[in-house]
Amino acid sequence: MEKKIFDITQLGLAAIDQAQTLDQLTEVRNQYLAKKSELMSIFGLLKDLSVEEKKSIGLRINEARDQLTRALDTKKEWLEKQALQAKFAEEQLDITLPGRALELKTAHPFFLIQEEISDIFVAMGYQIAEGPEVESDHYNFELLNIPKDHPARDMQDSLYMDDVTLLRTHTSPVQARVMEAAKGQPVQVICPGKVYRRDEDDATHSHQFGQIEGLVIGEGVNLGHLKDTLLVFAKKLFGEKREIRLRPSFFPFTEPSVEIDVSCFVCSGKGCSMCKQTGWIEILGGGMVHPRVLTMNGYNDKTMTGFAFGIGIERVAMLRYGIDDIRKFYQNNLRFLKQFQGR
Ligand code: PHE
Repeated sequence: MEKKIFDITQLGLAAIDQAQTLDQLTEVRNQYLAKKSELMSIFGLLKDLSVEEKKSIGLRINEARDQLTRALDTKKEWLEKQALQAKFAEEQLDITLPGRALELKTAHPFFLIQEEISDIFVAMGYQIAEGPEVESDHYNFELLNIPKDHPARDMQDSLYMDDVTLLRTHTSPVQARVMEAAKGQPVQVICPGKVYRRDEDDATHSHQFGQIEGLVIGEGVNLGHLKDTLLVFAKKLFGEKREIRLRPSFFPFTEPSVEIDVSCFVCSGKGCSMCKQTGWIEILGGGMVHPRVLTMNGYNDKTMTGFAFGIGIERVAMLRYGIDDIRKFYQNNLRFLKQFQGR
């Protein structure tokens, strides 16, 4: 019997040694250690033996079972480790592979300037307001003192959706909307956005372009405030040495109206091709809000006054960056756009 136990143990150990997978190992475990296995069934034979023999054979069986169990556990651990390593190997990432380079994108010069201008005014306490690009005749013209049949409409001949709806021709309708919402209270806003006019496109004209409107209303606001505000703006944008000058002009919604020039930043006023030998470059229009516009939009024109101005975004960007053709802003030519890496 002892021989038999020894043989079974040797066979069992060999089988454990040969097991290649966890499944095979489980089979071996069942075959050698289950209740009905050859080894365990020897317990059934003990009853016919003497007390001495029972003791020693029983001991042998237990030893054999322990030996096999230990071998099984060790092998199991090893097989599990192998399986894990195989899995790792299979899922291995090659972290030395060079990644796909993400190209650093640049901001469009239009938005660079829009942001720079906005920042200058926000620093002076202005809030930013926006309005719809598809606008009604009411806001785009009527509330700005441009009634039907007014010749000023011709200058902004536009793209109409129907008789009373059009693509806004300027950012001034946002003025009207802001005033209406303010219900007679002071305001200080800028309104950046796209505007549209039926126009022949050439180097300096486009049927779509950007404006930044400014509007300040309060008690005692006067033309001096407008001039000083725009002087600060011109110096921030074109350099500390810049001066500005105001020339009389006409807009239906401002009275008096002015055209604002900045001293040439190329020749400092001596005269060059940039300023067409005049020493001055026209940058924007503005004026004191017309009393009729104030009253139409809910203000008491006896106590409240205001100024407004309109800046052409591309025009400023062209001056600032030396861009010679407005159409370059819209052609998405990467060789052009990549030159603007920031401010
Ligand atoms: N809305 C005018 C234009 O588009 C510009 C402007 C704005 C002038 C505000 C005066 C005051 O031409």
